[in-house]
Amino acid sequence: MYSASELQSLLDLATSAAHEAGKMLHQRFLDSRGLRIEQKGEGINNLVTEMDTAAEELIRKILAERSDIIFLGEESGGNDDLSRLTWVVDPIDGTVNYAHGLPIWCVSIAAVQENEPIVGVIYNPNLDETFTAIKGAGAFLNGVQITVSTETNFRQSLLVTGFPYNINENPHGTIELFGQILRNGNAIRRLGSAALDLAYIAAGRFEAYWEVSLHPWDVAAGLLLVNEAGGRISSYASGEATQALQATREIVVDRLLATNGKVHDEILQFLLA
Ligand code: IPD
Ligand code: CA
Ligand code: CA
Repeated sequence: MYSASELQSLLDLATSAAHEAGKMLHQRFLDSRGLRIEQKGEGINNLVTEMDTAAEELIRKILAERSDIIFLGEESGGNDDLSRLTWVVDPIDGTVNYAHGLPIWCVSIAAVQENEPIVGVIYNPNLDETFTAIKGAGAFLNGVQITVSTETNFRQSLLVTGFPYNINENPHGTIELFGQILRNGNAIRRLGSAALDLAYIAAGRFEAYWEVSLHPWDVAAGLLLVNEAGGRISSYASGEATQALQATREIVVDRLLATNGKVHDEILQFLLA
C-alpha cells in the first residue's frame, strides 16, 4: 500500500513525462513533413512512426527517476508480469490519426500494481487536456474533478467503439455486433484512440465504449479514470466487472465494455447476444 503522498508523487512524475512527450509530439505533428512511417505487426493499418519511438524513449528517461519501478512500453516492450509496480506506457495512442494529421491522439501513462492501475494520466496536447486519476481519489480533467454522465436512456446515449487491426478477421463477431447496435438506432463514434475513448467516458462525453483485443498500454490509465469517475467496466465475454488487467504483453482485456454504469446492462445485452 502506498500513502496518498507517494501516489501523488507517482502521478506528478507520470504527468510531467506525459507533458514533455506530448509537447514534443505536438510540435512535430504541426509540421510533419517527411515523418517516417512504417507498418508493424499484424494488419496493414498497424503503423509506427519515428515519433512513437522517440516519445517512448523520452518518457522512459523521465520515468527512470524512479529506478525502483519497472517499465512496459508499447514500442520497446519490457516487463510482462504486471504484479510488480510497473509503468505502462503508450507513447501515442491513436498513431494512425497522428500519421494522417488528424488531431485525435494522446499520451497514456499508468502505474500498475497487482494487475491494477493505481495512477493514470492521459494527455491530449491538441486540446491541452490532461486527465488524471489516483486509485480511490477521483478523476480529474485539468485539475477539475470529473464524473461519468447521468444519462440513463440507452437509445439517447452517445456510444464509441474501436476496431482492432485484424478487423478483417472479424474477431468475436465485431462487425455484426456493431451492425446490431447501429440498427437499434444508436449514435456511434469511432475516434481511433482507446485511451481518449475511456477518458471521454470518465468526463461524461460518451455513455459507453466497447472494443476487442486491447493491450495494457491502450487501457491502463483509461480504466482507472472510468472507475474513479464512477463508471463501470466489464469484460463482455463474461458480463462480469473486470478491474484487473490480467496483463501479459499479449491481449489484456479481450472484450472490454466501459460505461457510465446507467446504460451498462442494456448495451451488455447486445454484446452478449
Ligand atoms: C490503437 C488505438 C485504436 C484502437 C486500437 C489500438 P495505437 O492504439 O487505441 O483506437 O482501436 O485497438 O491498438 O496503435 O494507436 O497505439
Ligand atoms: Ca494504443
Ligand atoms: Ca501506440
